[in-house]
Parts: sequence; C-alpha cells; structure tokens
Amino acid sequence: LFFTPGFPEHLCAMAMVCLLDFEAYAEKYLPKIAWDFFAAGADECSTRDENILAYKRIRFRPRMLRDVSMLDTRTKILGTEISFPVGIAPTGFHQLACPDGEKSTARAAKAMGTCYIASTYSTCSLEEIAAAAPGGFRWFQLYIHRNRAVSRQLVQQAEALGFQGLVLTADLPYTGKRRNDVRNGFQLPPHMKLKNLEGAFEVYEVSLDPSVTWDDIYWLRSLTHLPIIIKGILTKEDAELAVRHGVQGIIVSNHGGRQLDGAPATIDALVEVVEAVRGRVEVYLDGGIRKGSDVLKALALGAKCVFIGRPALWGLAYKESQNHRTVGVERRDIVEVAPKEGQEDDLRLEYISCEERLREVD
Ligand code: FNR
Repeated sequence: LFFTPGFPEHLCAMAMVCLLDFEAYAEKYLPKIAWDFFAAGADECSTRDENILAYKRIRFRPRMLRDVSMLDTRTKILGTEISFPVGIAPTGFHQLACPDGEKSTARAAKAMGTCYIASTYSTCSLEEIAAAAPGGFRWFQLYIHRNRAVSRQLVQQAEALGFQGLVLTADLPYTGKRRNDVRNGFQLPPHMKLKNLEGAFEVYEVSLDPSVTWDDIYWLRSLTHLPIIIKGILTKEDAELAVRHGVQGIIVSNHGGRQLDGAPATIDALVEVVEAVRGRVEVYLDGGIRKGSDVLKALALGAKCVFIGRPALWGLAYKESQNHRTVGVERRDIVEVAPKEGQEDDLRLEYISCEERLREVD
C-alpha cells in the first residue's frame, strides 16, 4: 500500500488479507451512519453475532492423501453455472457505500462469474442494474407491498429485464429494531432514492404488507415463469411448507440477524432444513459467511451454495475509497453535523452530496 497525500494515514496502513480486513477498513472509512446501518443487527445483535460464532464450533474430519491437484470450484444453481459457490445476497442502499451503488455490485458479480440477488430496496433501478452488467446472472429479491400492483410490476419488469429468479423474502413483515439506526434517526440521504419504488405511489402503498401468507406464493406463481426461491426459512416445518407450495429453492437465512434477535444461527438451522427437504428443491444459506472454510462447512452440511451480504458492502466501500485515494480525497458524502448551540440534545445529521463535498474540498 502506498501513501497518497491527503488520504487518511490510518487507512493507508491497512493490508487487505481477508474479509475481516475489509470490514475493519469499511468501519474506519464509511460515515458512521452508513456503517451503523450496514453492520446493524436487531436488538442485542445476538443472532447476528451467533451467525459467525456458530461456524467456530463446527470442526472438520479431514481426510488425507486424496489427489487434490485439480481443483474446480464451479457449481450450478437452478441449472445455471457459477464459478464458485458464493453469490451476493440482496442488501439495500448500496449508494451508501459507493455512488455507483448496485451497478458496481452487478459488475463485480459478473466479473466473478457468480449470481447477484438485487434487492427491492436498491438505490439503482432494475434497468440500471441490468444495463451495468449485460448478460450477468441475476435474481430479483421481492418484498410484497400493500399495493400489490407495485409488486406485480416489479416482478414482471425483472423477468422482462432478464433476471433469472425471484427471491421472496419471508422474514420481514415489519422491520427489526436496529438500535443504532434508531439512535441515528437513520434515513436515506435526500439525493439517494429507492429507485424501484419511485413513481406515483403513496408511502403507505409501498410499505411492506404484513398480511402475507403462504397462499401468496400461488399469487406470485400466477405472475411469472421465473423460479421462486424463498428466503428466510429456519425450520423443518416451514421448509416442508415451502416445498409443498411449489418453490424451486430455499435460502436458509435470518436476515443477517437484523430481524428476530434470538433466531438460530443459519448454519445451525441448515441441517434440519436440508433433512426436511430431502433433495426435492435446492437449499442455499446466508449469514455469517466470512471465510472459505465457512463455505465448506455449509456445503458439507447440505447447502448447494451460499450468499454473502455485508462483506460485499465492505468491498464496495473499499473500492470506492481507492478511487478517491487517487485524487487524495476522503469520501464523506454523508456528514454528521455538530448540534447547534442550545440544541445539544438534538442529534442532527445532515447530508450533502458527494459532488458538493468534492467541490468544497477543491
Ligand atoms: C440485508 N438483507 C436483506 N435481505 C433482503 O432480502 N432484502 C434486503 O433488502 C436486505 N437488505 C439488507 C441490508 C443490509 C445492510 C444487510 C446487512 C442485510 C439480508 C441479506 O440478504 C442477508 O440475509 C444477510 O446480509 C446475510 O448475512 P451476512 O452475510 O451479512 O452476515
């Protein structure tokens, strides 16, 4: 690593050796409000942390003297080949990590030959994502909104744009309580938009529909020819229901510990889901994957492939910081503003656009 005048010295000194280095880097580099949003778990974050700790309790039974001179990490998910069994889980608000947002993520996934699940809550539109990496392998993640016309339109748009799977997230009828977001009064900066939900809809109509049930899978089925993958399954009972309702895939997930604090680590839930499914549909997993050996443990316990959420966001932040390093500017398009005199109790956050900030630095 080299030193660029003007770039914070504490960031220049970091060597990137593993995903945790990218996490540590992102924590130092990102505006606090963005870091807090990405890193958050629900309540005490016990499920978020358990996702990672659970891997450390699982040990291998390694066998020796096998010919491992020829290695091939390729696999297929729902019939499409990926170059290694790690895809990118859906996460929202990528522009908080870099101005190109989900377009960068789509390009990175394509370059790595893997699957990117684009979130409903993307800060780039589905068209922009599709155009950024033509021919890339992508699924679209859907939240069902109170106004079903909004969801229907998104599903049909994703199919028309060449997305190859529809991921229905089942574990977010309401948003979990993420304490730092509450403390920060987190909201998207005004220059960032939920591009897929722009349009003539009232806020209430695009809010999540908490009345969704298993029967809504039949409704989804009637809208699209795409395979349906259900995300957020943690028990054998729900795995059986998912199969019976005709989904093509299951993602064992607890939303990175951002929803029900106290839910099991996904690697611990995987075994009962795999046993219940008995090979009838593909089973994937996300949550806490931070090393190759985590991937191996999940595959050994029956997952066809895994997805990473936060680490992809740390990667975006790192790449973005390297772009700015070349011009010696630290990107802070979201700044915290000290409370004004007499308003000390009122923690205020102010957003300015990246361009304005760069002008200021100039
Ligand atoms: C998420 N996740 C998520 N899931 C989803 O279905 N739709 C979404 O829009 C989001 N948004 C989102 C934002 C952020 C900042 C995070 C961290 C997570 C959950 C995500 O798909 C995945 O389940 C977890 O991130 C996996 O855990 P790890 O890899 O982050 O530990």
